[in-house]
Amino acid sequence: MNNPETEIIKVSAGRSHYEIVVGRNILQNAFEEIFQEYKGHKIAVITDSNVERIYGNKILQKLDKKDRVFILSFKAGEESKNRKTKEELEDRLFELGYSRDTLIIALGGGVTGDLAGFIAATYMRGIPFIQIPTTLLSQVDSSIGGKVGIDHPSGKNLIGSFYPPNKVYIDLDFLDTLPNEEIINGIAEIVKAAIIKDEKFFTYLESNIDRIIKLEKKFIDNAIISSLKIKASVVQKDEKESGIRKILNFGHTIGHSIEILSDFEIPHGRAVGIGMAVETLISEKIGILKSEDKERISQLFKKSKLLDISFKAFPDEIIKKTIMDKKTREGMVEYSLIKGIGKAVYGIKVDDGIVRESLAEAGFS
Ligand SMILES: NC(=O)c1ccc[n+]([C@@H]2O[C@H](COP(=O)([O-])OP(=O)(O)OC[C@H]3O[C@@H](n4cnc5c(N)ncnc54)[C@H](O)[C@@H]3O)[C@@H](O)[C@H]2O)c1
Ligand SMILES: [Zn+2]
Repeated sequence: MNNPETEIIKVSAGRSHYEIVVGRNILQNAFEEIFQEYKGHKIAVITDSNVERIYGNKILQKLDKKDRVFILSFKAGEESKNRKTKEELEDRLFELGYSRDTLIIALGGGVTGDLAGFIAATYMRGIPFIQIPTTLLSQVDSSIGGKVGIDHPSGKNLIGSFYPPNKVYIDLDFLDTLPNEEIINGIAEIVKAAIIKDEKFFTYLESNIDRIIKLEKKFIDNAIISSLKIKASVVQKDEKESGIRKILNFGHTIGHSIEILSDFEIPHGRAVGIGMAVETLISEKIGILKSEDKERISQLFKKSKLLDISFKAFPDEIIKKTIMDKKTREGMVEYSLIKGIGKAVYGIKVDDGIVRESLAEAGFS
């Protein structure tokens, strides 16, 4: 890689070691490296219909050895992150004669990464896969850490595995075509990273969130790299989420319920934004978060436009759905909460009464 702006972050989690290459205009180099490294392999680029429409031709031009590369696409959207799409894509791989010597490249947002990664995890008992994330959310969060999977009508991500990528290439230029709504979605996971792990970064966001949302290069690049480093450091300590990694689920217990109850009309990042607002209130009500900290967090939510969205549901419906989330033990939901800015805790059981009160304060009735 000879782009001077390119940064490499190394991740070592359990037995997996991989690099995240982050920079601008790195796609050409990325494909050259991939072709070199996977000489004897066939390559399946799995992508969604939107990314294929915008980037298909541009990418095909880079795939000079086209006979061993195929682009497989599926209908864009969370509704496709299911068994049916997985099966259809697998059938196409078999039809095309893709064997064990296949590399899967996930080119797209979090839906593509989760789905293509899960296909790679089980196709012929596991084949290599590379993430090329194209949304802000997938660049700061979902493309690293190795969680892959699909949804089930009972809940989000209920079928899946831990299957780390062999490499991640993050080309920040993909953000140029991303609709504003998708920027806000990604901002949710950036704000989450700061709240749970890094007060200094939180302060940086307080001063610069407007410039980040406007994608001013210096600020967005810095925010992405800081968030990535936070996620990488947490994942390295606990690859399979038996402990500390659970802090990354802040906002996600309530968030996942909202995603499901809205039939995915509310996308992941937005749902996590609302989830973080409610779980911040829970943290205050159970007495672990000072009201000044809660106030600073609420101000940042406002500035980041995360809560400029309306969704109606009864508190009890939301609470009921939290039980099917994976964070349940012995019938009790365990929350990841915060006891200060940059300080998260996990495995906290909370009375339904407090959750109900917090949901009411956040506007659910
Ligand atoms: N595995 C993990 O650790 C992890 C972490 C967080 C979220 N997730 C999952 O990620 C998913 C959400 O990811 P997402 O927000 O990226 O959603 P997504 O993949 O659906 O992408 C959002 C939209 O942006 C479009 N798009 C993608 N790249 C584009 C580009 N460069 N220009 C224009 N449009 C583009 C897509 O076609 C889609 O319509 C959820 O399923 C969530 O559960 C997984
Ligand atoms: Zn998330």
